[in-house]
Amino acid sequence: MEQKTKKVLSIGSYNVGLTCRTGRIPNWGETLIGSGFSESYGGKGSNQAVAAAKLGGEVTFVGCFGEDKYGDDGLAMLERAGVDTSYIIRTNKRVTGVGIILLNEENDNCIIVDVGANKELCPMYMDSIENVISDCDIVVFQLEIPYETVRRGMEIAKRKGKMIILNPAPARKEAMELLSLASIVNPNESELLILNGKEPSDQLTMEECERLARQLLTKGPEVVIVTRGEKGCFIVTSKETVNIPAYPVKAIDTTGAGDAFTGALAVALAEGYELLEAVSFANLAGAYCVTKEEVVPAFATREQLSQFKNNKQFADIHEGEGLFKI
Ligand code: RIB
Repeated sequence: MEQKTKKVLSIGSYNVGLTCRTGRIPNWGETLIGSGFSESYGGKGSNQAVAAAKLGGEVTFVGCFGEDKYGDDGLAMLERAGVDTSYIIRTNKRVTGVGIILLNEENDNCIIVDVGANKELCPMYMDSIENVISDCDIVVFQLEIPYETVRRGMEIAKRKGKMIILNPAPARKEAMELLSLASIVNPNESELLILNGKEPSDQLTMEECERLARQLLTKGPEVVIVTRGEKGCFIVTSKETVNIPAYPVKAIDTTGAGDAFTGALAVALAEGYELLEAVSFANLAGAYCVTKEEVVPAFATREQLSQFKNNKQFADIHEGEGLFKI
C-alpha cells in the first residue's frame, strides 16, 4: 500500500523584506549610500511554508497579517504557492511585519525585524486552531511571533504526539526551555551561541559547536541540527554526530537559506526520508537558495533541485549522499 505523505503546518511570521546592499553597517548618527534596493516576501514562518510547498509538500500556514497592501500581497503569494491560508488572521491594530535586510559584499545578511501584526498572533489563537494542529503531522515553529504563542502551540502539538521542528530564530536564551517540547531543533551557529547564553561569534570551532549542540540535546529534543553556512551542517543525536559538508556554490544572497533548509527538512521527513537523507536534502535546498537573489524565488521546486544536484562540481564531495532521492 502506498504511504500517504504527511501534512506540514508552519505557525509563524510573515514579513515583507526590504533589502539594501551596503559595504558595512553604519554607525549611529551616520548615513551610508547603499545600493540594489528590493522589496520581497519574507518572514521565517511564511518562508518555511512556501519552501516546503514549492517542493511539493501539503502545507498549511498560520500567521497574522495587517489589513494593508503588504498583507494582501503576502496572502496572495502564499495562495499562489499552494499553501493553505484558511487559518491566517488579519488585524487593523498593527501593520504587516517588516524585515529590514542588509547584505554585505560577501552576500552575508543581517536583519532587523519589526514584527508588527505578528505580535497579534496570541496564545489563545493556538487553542482555537487545535483541530488544525491535530490534523497535521509535522509542526514547524520559529521565534518571530510572541514567545508565549510558540510555547502554547508547541504544548498542544506535543500533547497530540506531533513531530515538532523548532527553528530557534531569532534566538533568545529563554528559548532553551522550549527544547523539551521539540523533536528537532535546528539553530545556525549564532543562534546556537545565544541559546547557550553566549555572544554571537564567527570564530566557533567544530569541537565547540558540537559541545554546545550536545548541551541543547540534554534539554529534550531527539535531534539537534546545526547549520554552519559555507562550512555545511551537522546532526547530533544521543548516538552520534554526523557532519555534512556544504555544496561548493557561489553565494549571491544568503537571505532565507535557513528557511529553505527548514522547509525542505519538513517536506523530506513528511515523505518518510530517513534523518540523514532528509538533512542532506535540506542541505541541498539551502545551497540552491544562496545562489539566487531574493527569498521566495530562491526556494527550489523539485525539478530545479534535481537539476541542481546533477551539477558536476558536486560529484566528489557528496558521493556518499548520492543515494537520497529528489
Ligand atoms: O530568514 C529570513 C527572513 O527573516 C527574512 O525573510 C526576513 O523577513 C526575516 O523574517
